Amino acid sequence: MAQDNKMIVDPYIPAGAGGLSVPVADRSELSIFPRLSTYSQIVAKLQWEPTSIDLAADARAWPELPLERRRRLTTLLAGFRVAEDAVAEHLTPFADVAEHVDTMMMWIFFLQRRDEDRHALFFDRVAAEVLQLPGDTPAERRAAAREHVPPALLELFEVRLPAAAADLAAQRTGILDGVRLYHMVLEGAVFTAGQRALLDDLADGALPGVREGVEHVELDERWHVGFGVRCLTEAQDRETLLDHVLARATQAAAAWGDAVPAATREFAVTLCRRRLSITGLVEASTAA
Ligand SMILES: [Fe+2]
Ligand SMILES: [Fe+2]
Repeated sequence: MAQDNKMIVDPYIPAGAGGLSVPVADRSELSIFPRLSTYSQIVAKLQWEPTSIDLAADARAWPELPLERRRRLTTLLAGFRVAEDAVAEHLTPFADVAEHVDTMMMWIFFLQRRDEDRHALFFDRVAAEVLQLPGDTPAERRAAAREHVPPALLELFEVRLPAAAADLAAQRTGILDGVRLYHMVLEGAVFTAGQRALLDDLADGALPGVREGVEHVELDERWHVGFGVRCLTEAQDRETLLDHVLARATQAAAAWGDAVPAATREFAVTLCRRRLSITGLVEASTAA
């Protein structure tokens, strides 16, 4: 029980009914956000089934693509194969911490976890059926995918994210520390940059099934990042140097190496800045 009490007085989470809620008088700037209870409806509208996307045409087209294009796409798709596994696994402590604070918030993390499992399954199918990476099991394919992923990306998802999740689980940090890394830096900048690079590359219809799946993933990730922004806003997270978050986002978006063009990286970081600026957490003047 002592543990529970410690969680409830987490300084990042205002105590009181509603957990992350702020007083009604302060809610005017939150009107851009859906009510927590409507996330279930948002998610219901976005439902998709990764096993039903047809990848047969993609598998046929893949060997015919130019080598340089295959190299770039392999980096991106193998990167998502590894990274989506990691974000699915390391979301668990968020839900565990939220359980002690706000059951609606816990439920939203649960909905997000279902999305991440779908994303991991989809990119595992792409690895097996399109990239034709070796391995009979998801774990073997994941190991094969790692060989194609830039070290900086592996560092983010296999070292920094697990460390942040462990800190959160052990209550060495609060949930907003986790949200800043997970939702803003990794999803808001790194995933946004990778998804945009994939969608730009696949706009010509070369791999229609992969493109269809990435479109679904991108829509799911939008609400995940929006939920992260909402958490930071509701907690009035003004003291935590959001400039620092943006600096980390800029650095992290570069983890894709030359698989993501510089302009696409800038697009992702600018979007991240705008997402934070609409909450009032960074000055609008710096959000150009
Ligand atoms: Fe995801
Ligand atoms: Fe996500």
